[in-house]
Parts: sequence; structure tokens; C-alpha cells
Amino acid sequence: MKYNKKILVVTGLVVFVIVGIAASRPPEEKFKNLKVLPKDISEQTIDKVMDEFSKALGVECNFCHLQIDSTNWDMASDQKPEKSVARKMIKMSNKINKDFFKAKTKYGEENAVLEIHCVTCHHGQPHPEMEEEQEEKPKQ
Ligand code: HEC
Ligand code: HEC
Repeated sequence: MKYNKKILVVTGLVVFVIVGIAASRPPEEKFKNLKVLPKDISEQTIDKVMDEFSKALGVECNFCHLQIDSTNWDMASDQKPEKSVARKMIKMSNKINKDFFKAKTKYGEENAVLEIHCVTCHHGQPHPEMEEEQEEKPKQ
């Protein structure tokens, strides 16, 4: 009898803790450090945008993001300067699209329609300027 009561109390406590954890979890905060892209961006859309950045610059995620080891990443970290440049580039692209092409959408919005993309300048290169300088070098 005494034993059963103990089990009941312990079970009750466990349920209480689990419910407590579930209730205190913040709603819909998937990404921790978004300053330019919409904070409520869906996982599907952020995947699409990040894939576009990587392809446009011809780089992997670790060009902008901190890779801890072969399986662990800190995507929210701002340690890499390339990530900060990329933020400025997103703002610049949004501004060009809005001011010169009358775009009503921005990078990271659902089904955004944009005229100027990263690839418009980058063409698969992280440094578009350097590419041209190299091409202009006299051939030997
Ligand atoms: C050219 C730079 C660049 C590349 C390449 C890139 N990202 Fe990002 N990523 C950013 C920037 C900039 C932000 C922050 C955007 C903001 O502040 O709104 C970001 C944010 C994120 C976040 C949100 C992190 C958080 O919690 O705040 C995730 C997840 C992410 N990137 C995944 C990826 C993955 C996966 C790849 C590779 C397929 C990738 N990124 C490639 C620039 C890049
Ligand atoms: C209007 C042209 C243009 C557009 C659009 C553009 N970029 Fe750039 N970007 C440049 C130029 C030019 C440089 C090189 C600047 C320099 O030499 O310092 C650069 C440099 C960068 C760098 C730094 C590379 C390095 O080696 O450190 C990153 C990161 C970057 N761009 C990301 C992006 C992303 C992401 C987008 C789209 C959201 C984008 N850019 C859109 C022209 C552009």
C-alpha cells in the first residue's frame, strides 16, 4: 500500500515536470540570430535562401558559418566576418530591388519575387571584383 502511494507521487511529479517543460518552451523561435531576414521565416524558406547564397558565391555553408567539427555547426554565431558582409549584401540587394525594380518583396519572404539576386553580380564567385581584375591581366 505504502509502496503504491510512492509510485503515484513519483509519477505525478514526472508528469508535472514534463508538462512544465513543454509549456515553457518559447513558441515558434526556430532561429536565434536573424537581423535581416524575417524572424518568422520557415525552415523551408531559409533552406532555399541559404542554398541560393552558397550557389551564387560558389561556396559551402562554412564560408559564412562557424563549423565546430565534421557534424556540429553554430549557425547563429557571428564569428565569421563573411556572415556580416553577407548581411550587408542582403540589405543592399533588397534596396536595389525596391528602389530600382519596384520589388514588393524582400529576401527571405515567402515566394519573394526579386530582379537582382546575389548571382547577378557574383556569378559563382565569392569576390566578383577580383575575378575581373584577374581576367584583365595581360596573357604571357
Ligand atoms: C554568403 C554567406 C552565407 C552562406 C554561404 C550561408 N549562409 Fe546561412 N546565414 C547567412 C547570414 C548572413 C545569416 C543571418 C541572416 C540574418 O541576420 O537575418 C544566416 C543564417 C542562417 C541560419 C539561421 C541561424 C540562426 O539561428 O540565427 C541558418 C540555420 C543557416 N544560415 C544555415 C545555412 C546553411 C545550412 C548553409 C549552407 C547550405 C548556409 N547557411 C550558407 C549567410 C550565409
Ligand atoms: C550589385 C552587385 C552585388 C550583389 C547583388 C551582391 N554582391 Fe556580394 N559582393 C559584391 C562585390 C563587388 C563584392 C566584393 C567587394 C570587395 O572586393 O571588397 C562582394 C562581396 C561579398 C562577400 C565577401 C566575400 C569575401 O571574400 O569576403 C560576401 C559574403 C557577399 N558579397 C555576399 C553576397 C550575398 C549573400 C548576396 C545576395 C544577398 C550578394 N553578395 C549580392 C557585389 C554584389
